[in-house]
Amino acid sequence: MVRPYAGNLGGGGFAVILVNGEVQTLDFRETAPAGATRDMYLDKNGEPRQDASLVGPLAAGVPGSPAGLFELHRKLGTLPWAIVVEPAIKLARDGFIVDRRLEERAVANLELLSRFPETAAVWLPGGEPPVAGSTMRLPELAATLEAYALKGTPAITEGPIAAAVELAARRHGGVLRAADLAAYRPVWREPVRFEAFGWQVASMPLPSSGGIILGQTCGLLERLEWGKYPRFGADRYHLLAEVLRRSYAARVLLGDPRTSLANAAQLLDPEWLDIRAESIKIGKATPSARVRKWSRDIAPEPKETTHLSVMDGEGNAVSLTTTLNGSFGCGLLVPGAGFLLNNEMDDFATAPGRPNLYGLIQGEANSVGPGKRMLSSMTPTIAWRGQQVIVTGSPGGSTIPTATAQVLLNLTVDGDVLQAAVDRARVHHQWMPDMLRVEPEALSPETARALERRGHELRTVLKLGETHSVRGMVGGEFHAAQDPRGPGGAGVVTPAVD
Ligand code: GLY
Repeated sequence: MVRPYAGNLGGGGFAVILVNGEVQTLDFRETAPAGATRDMYLDKNGEPRQDASLVGPLAAGVPGSPAGLFELHRKLGTLPWAIVVEPAIKLARDGFIVDRRLEERAVANLELLSRFPETAAVWLPGGEPPVAGSTMRLPELAATLEAYALKGTPAITEGPIAAAVELAARRHGGVLRAADLAAYRPVWREPVRFEAFGWQVASMPLPSSGGIILGQTCGLLERLEWGKYPRFGADRYHLLAEVLRRSYAARVLLGDPRTSLANAAQLLDPEWLDIRAESIKIGKATPSARVRKWSRDIAPEPKETTHLSVMDGEGNAVSLTTTLNGSFGCGLLVPGAGFLLNNEMDDFATAPGRPNLYGLIQGEANSVGPGKRMLSSMTPTIAWRGQQVIVTGSPGGSTIPTATAQVLLNLTVDGDVLQAAVDRARVHHQWMPDMLRVEPEALSPETARALERRGHELRTVLKLGETHSVRGMVGGEFHAAQDPRGPGGAGVVTPAVD
């Protein structure tokens, strides 16, 4: 299956990897270009400039995927690089069948795709969005991938392709330059680690908020003995909402590891989690405006994506999330190179205190600055207990940590089989706006009424996240589950023995 609206040569991502019992994470998140400035998305009155951080090359961070994917291969790959890239070249060169989802996304983003002639020439063939069932070929992208297969990262970050990125950016008012691409480096980072419900968990550290939110969520739920309450009753949902509200409130302090005002050690500190858990009352919701973000030892605050989970028979595993941010990124396709640039700059606090694409309110720690990595919510995660391994993660912007957490809770607290854990309806709270979002089947009418009586404002949404997960027991059974909320595939493959 292909998912071109999620990229990803023009985007970035994160990988959490378990190999021979050792966990490591690769951060290939985009960075702000050298020419970026703190107030680049504000007009002279200090008001946000409409769409400036979302549409066009000014919205694009320096892509991290070309160097990130190659670095993963350099350090851990076993097949030759050219063999790894070949299936992508074949799809781009020989064509792929447009599915219903791609047609829907193109129709929904018609205005964005029409904005730049370079993009429309490829993505609106004959002036119309591609039709489901038709075959789409991307010869320029195929040529870019062929060069990537031959030369690795420099094929994209140096030479004619990097020059084409700069030219396209200059033409449409962006600050992205070839020198930014050449200077980009992915970073190996220590994972966020914690224990939850008898499992060891490793997830993504800053510049993702995902692992920290997941760690706080699990730590607080354990303290509140969440598992002892009836599974689909109001107490469970109330406590989950209260915990998520607090975990996301602290997100406002987070940003690039070099400027973040809090870190995993502080926010997962057992004493702090104890204090946090004590502030939660079973009978009443705490208004988000009254939730403290963090109170000790830190400086005061100055003022579409896609996921892949995979595991082999030995329990080695990769949880990989990549993104262009919005569907089709910033809408600008690099002419001659065939890939779309991201609009990840909107993940910065482009106007601190104002909501971004996902309604997230962010703080000064995540303000724009040259070379900084914008805060993410992506939560690629691996959990293990003895010989059992779970690999999960999700697209979905701000709903990624909560979707990932609920799959993990369904498995570790309630012992669901993998597909049921993925299928179950979800809820989401992100501190602000102060509302509990619920999928249509999540709450019975009695549970919904009981939550409203405790002070929760409920808002029904069609779907929350799109997790893709595998679970395996070394020497035992393996399962893979695709999320029914979106496209994708899942399977267990037994290699042929020669
Ligand atoms: N662009 C979505 C995220 O990184 O959280």
